[in-house]
Amino acid sequence: MAHAVHTQVAMHEAYGGVVPELASRDHIRRLIPLTERVLTEAKCARAEIDAIAYTAGPGLAGALLAGASFAESFAMALGIPALPVHHLEGHLLSPLLSADAPAFPFIALLVSGGHTQLMRVSRVGNYKLLGESLDDAAGEAFDKTAKLLGLGYPGGPALAKLAERGVAGRFKLPRPMLASGDLSFSFSGLKTAVLTQVRQRDLSDADKADLAAEFQEAVSDVLVAKSLTACRQHQLANLVVAGGVGANRRLRQRLNEAMAKQGGRVFYPEMELCTDNGAMIAFCAAQRLLQNGITPNDRRGAFAVRPRWPLNELS
Ligand code: KG4
Ligand code: ZN
Repeated sequence: MAHAVHTQVAMHEAYGGVVPELASRDHIRRLIPLTERVLTEAKCARAEIDAIAYTAGPGLAGALLAGASFAESFAMALGIPALPVHHLEGHLLSPLLSADAPAFPFIALLVSGGHTQLMRVSRVGNYKLLGESLDDAAGEAFDKTAKLLGLGYPGGPALAKLAERGVAGRFKLPRPMLASGDLSFSFSGLKTAVLTQVRQRDLSDADKADLAAEFQEAVSDVLVAKSLTACRQHQLANLVVAGGVGANRRLRQRLNEAMAKQGGRVFYPEMELCTDNGAMIAFCAAQRLLQNGITPNDRRGAFAVRPRWPLNELS
């Protein structure tokens, strides 16, 4: 019906990354105005709301607590249920918000700032982890490499933009765990390989663009190969890509080509729903409500957030 995002990018930019205390204080400032704006845009009266969904984890404890306290209080005041949602489940189901949505079951590649995971999704609430990153997440590798190349925060989009002007292959970077035979990932070595290049000599702007292109190609090679393997192993033709790195154009192009060759298809969320947003959290809770029905809130105001929360603990 309506959705809005307040981005804290400008606030964190000066520090080159997220400052947790500033993030949670800003959450407190923004939550009520943003909620009022969305309700107005949706022409939705408070009495029409069935439930309030919020992100309960994983993430920064302070930011999670700000959202959870607000959502639980709002729901209690309205006498409706509050539904804690897993952040990654929100990402996973976000492609289902598109008009052209994939059918279950499918393989999901989740590539965000904190996670790189391949999952088999049988239905809402049934997620089997097939493999994940043993160290840095893909988005984290993008961000750290961007920093090494002197690019601003957030690094992922900046690095992708620089890569458009560069040529991959002039610099040689490793394709970590490409031949590992499993669906695990590792991206921290890639960042170290870039660091080695940066230390070896003074890089010109053209060098940096070529290095960025090679980095993007290396990450894509690994993500494409393992996603294809997961689809083949599970005999599934549909691949869903979710999370911030899923906004990367080159990765999309490579995945589309490779999956088409294999007789499959790739589904993405709308571009504006690739990075963090509230719509995917509301949608996820709505799917669960449709599946399980509305159960009364019997927690008497007690709630908790989970900064660490493995997705396969969901049911
Ligand atoms: O899912 P997300 O918005 O936040 C969470 O981590 O939950 O993902 C953010 C990550 C950041 O690491 C950011 O650099 C990366 O996604 N990212 C990109 C692009 N856009 C965002 N990485 C590569 N290419 C992009 N175009
Ligand atoms: Zn996210």
